Amino acid sequence: MKKIQIILFLNLFVISLTAQNKLPVYLDDSKTIEERIEDALSRMTLEEKVKMIHAQSQFSSAGVPRLGIPENWMTDGPHGIRAEVLWDDWGQAGWTNDSCMAFPALTCLAATWNPQLAALYGKSIGEEARYRNKNVLLGPGVNIYRTPLNGRNFEYMGEDPFLASRMVVPYVQGVQSNGVAACVKHFALNNQEIDRHTVNVNVSDRALYEIYLPAFKAAVIEGKAWAIMGAYNRYKGQWCCQNEYLLNNILRGEWNFDGVVISDWGGVNNTEQAIYQGIDMEFGTWTDGLASGKRNVFDQYYLATPFLELLQSQKVKEEEVNKKVRNILRLVFRTTMNRHRPFGSFATPEHGLAARQIAEEGIVLLQNKNNLLPLDLNTVKKVAVIGENAVKMMTIGGGSSSLKAKYEISPLDGIRNRIGSKAEVVYARGYVGEATAIQDGVKSSDITDNRSPEELIAEASQVAKEADYVIFIGGLNKHDGQDSEGNDRANLELPYKQDALISALAKVNKNLVVVIISGNAVAMPWVNDVPAIIESWYLGSEAGNALASILLGDCNPSGKLPFTFPVKLTDVGAHAVGDYPGKNGEENYKEDLFAGYRWNDRNKIKALFPFGHGLSYTQFTYGKASISNKFMQENETLTITVPVKNTGKKTGKEIVQLYIGDEKSTLERPVKELKSFEKILLHPEEEKTIEFVISLNDLKFYDDEKRTWIAEPGKFKVYIGASSTDIRTMVDFELK
Ligand code: BGC
Repeated sequence: MKKIQIILFLNLFVISLTAQNKLPVYLDDSKTIEERIEDALSRMTLEEKVKMIHAQSQFSSAGVPRLGIPENWMTDGPHGIRAEVLWDDWGQAGWTNDSCMAFPALTCLAATWNPQLAALYGKSIGEEARYRNKNVLLGPGVNIYRTPLNGRNFEYMGEDPFLASRMVVPYVQGVQSNGVAACVKHFALNNQEIDRHTVNVNVSDRALYEIYLPAFKAAVIEGKAWAIMGAYNRYKGQWCCQNEYLLNNILRGEWNFDGVVISDWGGVNNTEQAIYQGIDMEFGTWTDGLASGKRNVFDQYYLATPFLELLQSQKVKEEEVNKKVRNILRLVFRTTMNRHRPFGSFATPEHGLAARQIAEEGIVLLQNKNNLLPLDLNTVKKVAVIGENAVKMMTIGGGSSSLKAKYEISPLDGIRNRIGSKAEVVYARGYVGEATAIQDGVKSSDITDNRSPEELIAEASQVAKEADYVIFIGGLNKHDGQDSEGNDRANLELPYKQDALISALAKVNKNLVVVIISGNAVAMPWVNDVPAIIESWYLGSEAGNALASILLGDCNPSGKLPFTFPVKLTDVGAHAVGDYPGKNGEENYKEDLFAGYRWNDRNKIKALFPFGHGLSYTQFTYGKASISNKFMQENETLTITVPVKNTGKKTGKEIVQLYIGDEKSTLERPVKELKSFEKILLHPEEEKTIEFVISLNDLKFYDDEKRTWIAEPGKFKVYIGASSTDIRTMVDFELK
């Protein structure tokens, strides 16, 4: 009897202990995220809620310490994890454990046309963010390439909404597989840096929906991005960070976005609109931190004390702050409070390999007359490398994407390492652009050279003359006014008298390769005098190694241009008819839908190098395309097949592109638009048949009067080719 009593007592004791230890709902991950959110919200004070929705430091916002809810930590983005900066100042914090792997710029990723590499990129950079305990990565960027002058094009994925969409989705998914949110930026219409804080963009609904929004939409709907960043500029007169149309109607209303909307740093401009017009978190409004002395300046943000006072006086309903906090708590439960997320890794050899693979697949061989490339060490004994970009660090500069990289292999070092003792490598500077770069207190090596352009050209010409092979490495850099945030380029030309230098080199040595390092198209007045040209982007830590392996043929180039290289600026719609960079604060996208190749097609303008162009060291022959049916019904798909054969001597990858044109429509449409592509590996003599499936969605355009996507019955043409202009085979069909 006694024994039974003791057991009963013990049982009761255990039961009461468990009840006491029962997890509150918000900590219980057997509950749904929505249940946890409501529970956490019900425990928070008004002050705690308001603290959560604005910055507490340059890159963080408060958690709820009392409840054990962690802070949110953001990091740039999008090419590597930014060095730690001070709490309330942009200066570098001086940590010694924050040197990251620098991945290639997003233009390079887009140039791979390889969604698997976008997944690898996202996964790898997400691991780096996770290791550094950041739960939001400020990237990727998917603003459409509208003008080659935009200083930030290098952070984006090119001119085509379909290509950018296909590449952004796996990037986002890869990042988020680490329990780190991708913050897709800059939503929306941030297509230039000049006047970015003020310019009001006027764009037709068709261009908005068909060109400028699809990549964001794909990131949200398919990629399920957990965060998005509002842009600095205005649309319909409202700043994009507090924009009823973009944030409330489109993002939340049409796309059902359930993530968090983060302002660009300093993108919020008043309290009233920020309360009601879609922003959840305010960052960077004043960046002088504690400088004002009396109170923490972060408390003075539009969504800090001013908002709190409105809530306390009940001039604004508590539900308005709850809406924002819910989105932030959702972020927290998806990231920091997800106890199953992985731990990440940082600056590892694996990440170096990923960076290199992406770099190698993104480099574009633009021209290769007489098969000058790859460089053959059996015949070449003396190689002259010329140009500042051969020795310049490119991971530093460019604005917020600037990095403190663990290492960066310069092109010259990459070439020297690869060639070793098999040939002599000599170097001449050729031109002087910028001697040092410094950002966030991270400084590049000093490459000051005080010689005049004439002296530099004379020396370089002499060096080139005495070599049997010349590799010029120039282009742009990450300084203000080049590929850099905050400003645009002044013109399409190469800076620092490089054109004169290249022409001089072409005169003394016919074996000249020009390597352009840039994130933008540049003019090439010497294009006919130079046999081989490469677009090599900003490639990050593995830059020199990747470039060397392309130059020497270890890796067969397989990148293709994600944007058009125009001959001249007026060949670009934004410059021909659009009033770039705007007048009196207003900018009209008069070229409408016709960004990039759509403009060239429509006006029959020959590009210097067209969208989708890129050569290989082997050749691909396309057979005749066939189509499963000559007619398409509304709920049917059509299959188009095309055989492609490697008829050259090297294994290589080809990007087969499929464009569709609507032969007749009530509203004007582009001649053709990219709707599918496939990157395939082929060994010599190997042939593969590629299968593309197209559906009704691929035929639709946005009807701005009906405010919906429609496909009109009639004839469509399918163009299959190696670029937007190199069309190899066509089929047509009719939509019934
Ligand atoms: C940039 C953003 C960046 C943020 C934080 C802004 O100036 O526009 O892209 O993420 O700063 O550094």
